[in-house]
Parts: sequence; structure tokens; C-alpha cells
Amino acid sequence: MNVFIVYAHPSEDSFTRHVKESFIRGLEDAGHSYLISDLYQMNFKTDMSEAEYLRESNYRDDLPVPMDVKLEQVKINGCDAIVFVYPVFWTEAPAKLVGWFDRVWTYGFAYGNNRTMKQLAKGLVLCVAGNTLEKLIEMGHYESMKTVMLGDRLSDRVTSKEMIVLERMSKEYAEEREGNWDKHLETAYQAAYSL
Ligand SMILES: Cc1cc2nc3c(=O)[nH]c(=O)nc-3n(C[C@H](O)[C@H](O)[C@H](O)COP(=O)(O)O)c2cc1C
Repeated sequence: MNVFIVYAHPSEDSFTRHVKESFIRGLEDAGHSYLISDLYQMNFKTDMSEAEYLRESNYRDDLPVPMDVKLEQVKINGCDAIVFVYPVFWTEAPAKLVGWFDRVWTYGFAYGNNRTMKQLAKGLVLCVAGNTLEKLIEMGHYESMKTVMLGDRLSDRVTSKEMIVLERMSKEYAEEREGNWDKHLETAYQAAYSL
């Protein structure tokens, strides 16, 4: 399987970075090929220009999309699975990734009557949270995260989709972070291996 990883974390000094690396090891061991967009490292522009906004809001798929957006779309259409790896920030993905969706999910590509985005076999969201999953469920945050990422953004663009929350990794709870570390990296590895 050809896998496209969209990775968004502002620091190398993070658990999410290890998740990405473990996931890649799993892909390699399973014989999958992959490519990655490391959005912070690429300095991917995530604020929409006025021209982009006008193209979207007026449903003008005859107008061009910027080259950096086009490149991401080419990567998507060259893969069978798309995987998002990021830390949960305010119940969402980091703004860097939210902006990636704003710009890359364009009219005529990701939505509209004649969309050109390939139907992908798999979509996986692998996110790291500070809270426990139990707490995220209790507060309704888990449902929101799934609704936005799986229900809206992935939607019917992928055939099979899943969200995995690697819980309780806040530095505020150092002992639990340490205790969950290896288990979560194994989960990331297995998720890649069994794609
Ligand atoms: C700006 C910011 C917002 C955050 N918001 C949430 C949140 O809404 N829910 C949550 O469970 N954790 C939240 N966290 C905790 C992060 O998910 C935490 O940094 C991460 O799980 C730890 O992994 P890391 O070492 O890769 O950063 C937030 C962290 C930051 C910096």
C-alpha cells in the first residue's frame, strides 16, 4: 500500500515525533511505501489568500489552485491511504493542519459534483492527547474530534476510516506519560503494520 502521512507538530522535542517514527517503522516492516508532508518543517502556508477564498466561495473550479496546494493534491491522488499524525490542540488539530484542509480540500478536488480526488481505501487519524480518553468522552470532545476529522474531512473520501487517540500524554502528568509511552508507540507501529 502507498501511504501518505500528513504530520503536524511544531517541535522535534515531542512525543508525537516518536509516534510518527514508530508509525514509519511499522510501514517499512510491513513493506508499505510512504511519503510524508511535515507541515511545520515545510513551512506550509495555511492561511488562505483572498483569491483562494473567492475561488472556493464562488465554486469556481475553472480557476487555478496555487502550486503548493496542487502538489499536496498530487500526493493524495498517488496514494491508497492517508494518515494524519498530530497532537490535539483545543480539541482540534494544530492550526497548521486545519489550514492545510482549508487550502488543500478545494472545490473540484475534494468536493463538488466533478471532484477529482481519488477515493482512498483507508484514512487514519493518529492523535496524541493530554487528557484521558475517558475524560474526552465525558466532555463530548472525543465525539467532536471524530465528527470533524472522520465525519466531515474524511467523510466518503475514504472507504474505511479510524481515529486512534493516544491518551494521557501531557507533560503535566509525567508519570502517566512515561507509563503510556511504549504502549502508545506499539499501537502506532501496529496501526501501520496492519494497514
Ligand atoms: C495549545 C495546546 C492545546 C492543547 N489542547 C488540548 C486539548 O484540547 N485536549 C487534550 O487532550 N490535550 C490538549 N493539549 C495537550 C497536547 O495534546 C499535548 O501536548 C500532547 O498530548 C503531548 O504530546 P507532545 O509531547 O507530542 O506535544 C494541548 C496542548 C497545547 C500545547
